[in-house]
Amino acid sequence: MAAAFKGLNSRLVHVGEKPDPATGAAIPPIYQTTTFAFPTNESMLDLMEGRTSGYIYTRYGNPNFTMAEAKIADLEGAESALVLASGMAATSTAIMALTRAGDHLLTHADIYGGSFGLFHEILPRFGVETDFVDMTDLGSVEQAIRSNTTVIFIETPSNPTLRVFNLQAIAEVAHRHGIRLVVDNTFATPYNQRPLDLGADVVVHSGTKYLNGHSDLMAGAIAGTAGYIAECVNVFRKLGGNLNGFDAWLLIRGMKTFGLRMRQHNESGQKVAEYLSTHPAVQCVHYPGLPTHPQHELARSQMSGFGGVMSVELRGGPQAVDRFLDSVQLFSRAVSLGSVESLITQPVAAVHYNVPASFRELGGITPSLVRISVGLEEIEDIVDDLARALERAG
Ligand SMILES: Cc1ncc(COP(=O)(O)O)c(C=O)c1O
Repeated sequence: MAAAFKGLNSRLVHVGEKPDPATGAAIPPIYQTTTFAFPTNESMLDLMEGRTSGYIYTRYGNPNFTMAEAKIADLEGAESALVLASGMAATSTAIMALTRAGDHLLTHADIYGGSFGLFHEILPRFGVETDFVDMTDLGSVEQAIRSNTTVIFIETPSNPTLRVFNLQAIAEVAHRHGIRLVVDNTFATPYNQRPLDLGADVVVHSGTKYLNGHSDLMAGAIAGTAGYIAECVNVFRKLGGNLNGFDAWLLIRGMKTFGLRMRQHNESGQKVAEYLSTHPAVQCVHYPGLPTHPQHELARSQMSGFGGVMSVELRGGPQAVDRFLDSVQLFSRAVSLGSVESLITQPVAAVHYNVPASFRELGGITPSLVRISVGLEEIEDIVDDLARALERAG
């Protein structure tokens, strides 16, 4: 029934849900249970052997997960989706479902610090090597491909430098070599960009960010073909990175206003980026919605809006960054992004702290860089706070 709705906001409210058949409750209950009882022993075996469908144990699945998964698959235009305990659970499961010892992967240096650590530190222990290349240069991508390259992983826009990569062109290169393209769509969100429509094979998310949007839960998601998601389920049931009923229920609630929130994040993000780009204390603003962004035309062709996250480089260097961050009042000095409240952080001090200097340099992650996540407060208050803090930063 719900899938018949064309409008995004209608689908966000209704897809995957219907009033509770047991009580008529308009909002589905929270299935805060680890295990599910079976009427007979035989029915348990029927379920295990796939003759019937249902729930066994929350690490294997939960009705609240199913509802959230239906909404995410719909948002990304995917056959299927899987929700997990965090964005890192999603990325690690998505990659492990695609790789074997001896494989070679490609990604770029300016990715989320946790994902960097997975590729640079953890996967080599299991015989999977990764090269970090400039994804804006298709020639370098092509040159870095080896006979054992199986996955290209990109974030576009990238964290924290907001570089934009050509999804269609990279998908074309990947597929010509039999490689899968996995895209972290956390920054752009499916409101602004649908990588599967542009040729990507898999989308991963930190649902902790815009999908939930309220900084009150950790979640992750993978979207792709039904066959691939079945393999992710197989991997994750063994790794154990499952969500829980309550957080899945909160995620569903957060997603109902996702479209409205994103519309405002796009509008406020653009205004803040434009304001900052004229400020004398700011050397450079990295935001794909600005005509000065090196991939602005590409961003316009593959995104319908640019979100609320940007990064700025301050002319006064790291000391000015300290003064700037210590002077904000409305913004919270905190990692994370994509929430109703505005957040600000210096990537080298936290999110990218563990990324070695040579890779930071490769990714343009300097000590003068500040990442800003514009929330849903009134735009005048957001701009006033930044203006006051920039004046003190000097
Ligand atoms: C782009 C991106 N991907 C993945 C993650 C990891 O998500 P989580 O913190 O939910 O594990 C983050 C976290 O900040 C992120 O910014």
